[in-house]
Amino acid sequence: MSKVTQIAHPLILHKLAFIRDKNTGSKDFRELVEEVAMLMAYEVTRDVQMAEVEIETPICKTKCKMLAGKKLAIVPILRAGLGMVDGMLKLIPAAKVGHIGLYRDEETLQPVEYFCKLPQDIDERDIIVVDPMLATGGSAADAITLLKKKGAKNIKLMILLAAPEGIKYVMDIHPDVDIYTGAIDEELNENGYIVPGLGDAGDRLFGTK
Ligand code: PRP
Ligand code: URA
Repeated sequence: MSKVTQIAHPLILHKLAFIRDKNTGSKDFRELVEEVAMLMAYEVTRDVQMAEVEIETPICKTKCKMLAGKKLAIVPILRAGLGMVDGMLKLIPAAKVGHIGLYRDEETLQPVEYFCKLPQDIDERDIIVVDPMLATGGSAADAITLLKKKGAKNIKLMILLAAPEGIKYVMDIHPDVDIYTGAIDEELNENGYIVPGLGDAGDRLFGTK
């Protein structure tokens, strides 16, 4: 059964308030999304494997813990997921990045795939799928299904704002995938937007509306 973790850290909640504010322009929106992604990466990677290594300080030899070298991949769902990649790479610079392009058909709200480019060894990597928004859950669930078809086994989903409907949908289809979110909002409106939400994440990131 998937685990849902709301990372309600004060710094994340504070920055999310600015991200939600309709008066926040694209430049600040982009910077804030990157910062929140970096803060969330700290929690999402809490259980990565460690290995003991011997190093030498200026004083003596000692044993320390370092990341075990298990390979990670960050997979943003285009477009809006792109806004979270650089923040994550600041903390995990060795991660590879795969891209899955999906857009929601405005009428049906069904995700439509238009791009997929993944690291060759995606089946050997621990994967963190990133997208600012989990609304109906259709886009995230499809992206995860695609990754599983390519052999991916260990997948986490990292979201800034999730609707209860989207969480339930992903949990039903992918009960093995843990979900990390900055906030769980109230509901979806009749157009499939998260309420209170932040509006259209892609448009706000890239200034397309
Ligand atoms: C947004 C968002 C998610 C999706 C969430 O992308 O970034 O991918 O909607 O909605 P869902 O949970 O109902 O599928 P959008 O389709 O607007 O594309 P964009 O990122 O290119 O703007
Ligand atoms: N996609 C967005 O960008 N915002 C929403 O509220 C729902 C889906």
